[in-house]
Amino acid sequence: MAIPCSLSGKFEGHSSRARQVYSPTQSNRFNVGSFAYVTIKDRLPQILTKVIDTVHRHKNTFFEKYGEEGLAVGKKTISFLSKLRNELQTDKPIIALTDTFPDCELWNQYLEYQTSLMKEEGPPSWFKSPWLYVECYMYRRIHEAITLNPPICDFDVFMESKHQSFFESQQAIITLCTYFHEILKSIGDLTDDQMSEELFKLLQVSLWGNKCDLSISAGQDNSQKSCLLNSLQDLKPLILVNDMANVWTLVSSFKKGNTNESSSLRVDIVLDNAGFELVTDLALADFLLSSKMATQIHFHGKSMPWYVSDTTKQDFNWTIKQLQAANHMWMSKCGIKWEGNLNNESWVYHDHLFWSLPHEFCDMAQISPDLYAELQKSNLIIFKGDLNYRKLTGDRKWDFTVPFSQSLNGFQPAPLGSLRTLKSDVQVGLKTGQGEQLTFSDPDWLISGKYGVIQFSTAV
Ligand code: F6P
Ligand code: MG
Repeated sequence: MAIPCSLSGKFEGHSSRARQVYSPTQSNRFNVGSFAYVTIKDRLPQILTKVIDTVHRHKNTFFEKYGEEGLAVGKKTISFLSKLRNELQTDKPIIALTDTFPDCELWNQYLEYQTSLMKEEGPPSWFKSPWLYVECYMYRRIHEAITLNPPICDFDVFMESKHQSFFESQQAIITLCTYFHEILKSIGDLTDDQMSEELFKLLQVSLWGNKCDLSISAGQDNSQKSCLLNSLQDLKPLILVNDMANVWTLVSSFKKGNTNESSSLRVDIVLDNAGFELVTDLALADFLLSSKMATQIHFHGKSMPWYVSDTTKQDFNWTIKQLQAANHMWMSKCGIKWEGNLNNESWVYHDHLFWSLPHEFCDMAQISPDLYAELQKSNLIIFKGDLNYRKLTGDRKWDFTVPFSQSLNGFQPAPLGSLRTLKSDVQVGLKTGQGEQLTFSDPDWLISGKYGVIQFSTAV
């Protein structure tokens, strides 16, 4: 596998400035019954059990491909993963990584940092560590199990679920691709009002596409069954913060200011889940390009299988190939057009190991200055999904009314926005009383995925 990045920084903990700004603590030290607790106690072991089962079912394939060695590494991987599940379920201390992947040292430094925070409480363990850290750590340990066992080190334990989720969303994908082609036909003639209306529709489709992640469902089917486009109006009241108008103001100003044909207007999309959500992101990206609100789109994906359904380079390419090969004209045309965008480099795909570290995004400039510098070239960065939101806001127990820009703790390489359905208990930027009202009327509002936000920040 190609190693995509340099990770030049050493993590020595947050600066005193960060600590001052970051008064709230991370949502951690699981209270029994909290969402974090249920995730670690129930959902993660379920995911691990599914992973073990997947490796087990592939033992014959490994044998066919690599002979006795394949069979042996299959067994070794299963025993590593079973041990991992036992460590988790019996609240064992977090242990250092032992593979040679380039992010290994940073993970181990991060463990030292967490250990230094523990004081008399003993070493960090699965139930005595920040939730964000241990959840990321589990996926990294799954990757360790695979990388320690060549020749199967390219095996994606979540690939089958991702593919299944794509196929189960087929009808919704067809509807979206068909609609998208209708827009393209008239895109040159749209008035500003029509253009903003189409942008808003695609932003909302991309937002609600984020419901389809497979980590919240512990790997069970969570695909998009119905046509989203017809439901947008009904779903609108569930968007708790809606900064779409700010996004329009920004991107339409790109277009107006873009009198110089050679100037490039770049939008970056930090991807989340493969399957239906990825197709919604690709449609949004192509719309920005075809409407000339952007001249280049940069996508950012994961360097390893992550949170079950997150997009890797393999998923990205597979999705475009599947669309191309589809037996439906508009799906196939989308695939062909999007492959063309990659070939002419108006779409660029990146992956970087920073995205699968446990660090908050405000650490990016220190840990991965190359990635931070890359993002500084952007005119707008769109962060998809819940996990990215947790990392943007540091997964802190913020008051609901703290401004989004403040929760970023100085992370602002360029104007940025988040499209996220709520699946964890951090939320900022609400109106006074809004969070309390929701807690009263719908106690699960933070974790059910029913609500969404489109939040935007330009403040530096
Ligand atoms: O526990 C739910 C969860 O696993 C969160 O930890 C995580 O933030 C989310 O699901 C993943 O969602 P998304 O795919 O939107 O990042
Ligand atoms: Mg995800």
